[in-house]
Amino acid sequence: MPDAVQPHAGETVTTISAARVLRRIEELARCSSDPDALTRVFLSAQHRAANELVSNWLRQAGMKTRVDAVGNVIGRYEGSAPALPCLMLGSHLDTVRNAGKYDGMLGVVAAIECVDALHSAGTRLPFALEVIGFADEEGVRFQSTLLGSRAVAGTFDMKVLNAIDAEGITMSDALHRFGLDRANIASAARQRAEVLAYVELHIEQGPVLEAAGLPVGIVTAINGATRYAIEMSGTAGHAGTVPMQGRQDALAGAAEAVLAIERICRAVPDLVGTVGRLTARPGATNVIPGKARFSIDLRSPRDAERKEAEREISAALQAICDRRGLWLHIGRTHENSATGCAPWLMEQLGAAIAAFGHREMKLASGAGHDAMAMCDLTDVAMLFIPCEAGISHNPREAVTAADVAAGCEVLLHFIRNFKPLSGSAS
Ligand code: HGY
Ligand code: MN
Ligand code: MN
Repeated sequence: MPDAVQPHAGETVTTISAARVLRRIEELARCSSDPDALTRVFLSAQHRAANELVSNWLRQAGMKTRVDAVGNVIGRYEGSAPALPCLMLGSHLDTVRNAGKYDGMLGVVAAIECVDALHSAGTRLPFALEVIGFADEEGVRFQSTLLGSRAVAGTFDMKVLNAIDAEGITMSDALHRFGLDRANIASAARQRAEVLAYVELHIEQGPVLEAAGLPVGIVTAINGATRYAIEMSGTAGHAGTVPMQGRQDALAGAAEAVLAIERICRAVPDLVGTVGRLTARPGATNVIPGKARFSIDLRSPRDAERKEAEREISAALQAICDRRGLWLHIGRTHENSATGCAPWLMEQLGAAIAAFGHREMKLASGAGHDAMAMCDLTDVAMLFIPCEAGISHNPREAVTAADVAAGCEVLLHFIRNFKPLSGSAS
């Protein structure tokens, strides 16, 4: 592995600008399908606009840019020799509906800021750097998550190409309309030898760091998660003439199911279960709902407890439907085991944190991240900064410039001093 090439004597070693990071995040927040809120979904015009913005910033930071076969935008900053394996940085550029501005975007823009500082100082490292803006982490449009990072990790499930969005467009068609070809998706996959590690800066989306008064924290593990699409079918009928006895009301069944899921999850420490979407058909005031569809999002740091809860919940839903004469379909749309971050990377993040005199805190992530998919390709680690009151997936998501500066400085220090695992590709 060639030695690090330090800046030439007398060269200004520029540092990062939190103000520019925040300014760019504001610019990205304007790429939204909703004039009054931030919503940017996979393969949309807003996704394309965000990719273009980010590509400009990647180029300004001295990187070669491309968009891969699934819509991820990628910048590459060569090391002190050509074609060296890379330390991969980044996060996701898609958002939930009515989102906050920092979930995902912070990690992409902060990584660009770090490479820009190296580029401005003329620094080349004994490895390449790649910054990636993943195309779909939230799974809002097609209900299946981590699509961009799974394609890079080589674990993309081609079956999801048949998933249909709310307008009836398949993912396959959406790729085509975006100018991509489903036949090329495999080309997005990277080889293990090309990537030394994946490290992601992200807001905590919880209250721990803010309560501890710390500007940064090291993630130990990311909770495992399962997502379901549930359908209950009964008999639509006249709201005025059908007696309550013997109704097959699908929405009433779904309502009972929501409370059963809450009861089951409340009983197990650290297990969380959420029904975030619920629709009833035909949706008329004077018609008994014949069909109800709802989502389930289930998470735990311990996979065995999450699986036990899955069994309990499906039994509870079946019992509700049997008693109410409803038909039940349980469709699993996503599953990811709990993901451990690599101790050797956590150690180097710890050294970077100590270099700035911050107290080190380690914490688990209740939120899911692209690192859950990237761990199938390479070792992963995450650096958190606090967000106000832990609020996220909400337009009230907020960070302080001081914490953004601290996060970027620690990330830049980590990058400058990164030592690949001995024996990893070089
Ligand atoms: O749902 C999550 O935890 C992540 O924000 N996608
Ligand atoms: Mn999110
Ligand atoms: Mn996120």
